[in-house]
Amino acid sequence: RKPVTAPGLRAMKAEGRRIVMLTAYDASFAFQLESAGVDVALVGDSLGMVVQGHASTLPVTLDHMVYHTAAVARGLHSTLLVADLPFMSDRDTAHALEAGARLVGEGGAAMVKLEGAAPHVLEAISALVARAIPVCAHLGLTPQSVHKFGGFRIQGREQEAADRVLAEARAVEAAGADLIVLEGMPTSLAQRITEAVAIPTIGIGAGPHCDGQVLVLHDLLGVTPGKRPKFSKDFLLGRDSVAAAIAAYADEVRRGVFPAPEHCFN
Ligand code: KIV
Ligand code: NA
Repeated sequence: RKPVTAPGLRAMKAEGRRIVMLTAYDASFAFQLESAGVDVALVGDSLGMVVQGHASTLPVTLDHMVYHTAAVARGLHSTLLVADLPFMSDRDTAHALEAGARLVGEGGAAMVKLEGAAPHVLEAISALVARAIPVCAHLGLTPQSVHKFGGFRIQGREQEAADRVLAEARAVEAAGADLIVLEGMPTSLAQRITEAVAIPTIGIGAGPHCDGQVLVLHDLLGVTPGKRPKFSKDFLLGRDSVAAAIAAYADEVRRGVFPAPEHCFN
């Protein structure tokens, strides 16, 4: 398989081929993603919740992210590696550049992800892109804003809020982002955004009209403690291996079978 690249993802959108993205936090599971032909591996700061056991992503540090990114990189060959900038590592452009440099240089990431579209985030996106670090934006229910939102709440339900998220998508594209994760928003809003931008959108709890989908690995395998989030699906249910579960997820995303209506918000 040819390596997946940032320009390659834009070509996939243009050709109408859905992008399969999944989180990974260590080399063994990264190898499973690679073997299943997953397009993009995300070392998400969700590791704070599913690996470290915290109630939010906020305690994750840049050192944690670099450690897990480097481990995942050792399990990958052609799958594109994206790593999250953790809480406050993007507080100004200098810190965002330092974080990007470490995630790419030490960690081996080929792209970094930042949440939101505040002025300092847009500035950080431009600065990273200017230094040849591709950027994935992340809009909607951005988990690092959990305290501002008052919980993990669906975003963009009201017309005004929806228009704001659409404007943010246009802004991150203009700043130079190559990809946008759309999390926790009505299906109709994610569809509007996907049609409005030339860069691919990757949905999680954002409906079936995005250019690709992402899930947290532990949700996909049904091992996340507590109740399963509405937008996720246990792909290990009725299957006999992790490899089969990840392959089924990739297949259902590519065929547009997942997410089904019961995984979506209206
Ligand atoms: O941290 C993470 O796993 C993420 C995805 C849910 C998009 O940001
Ligand atoms: Na994240």
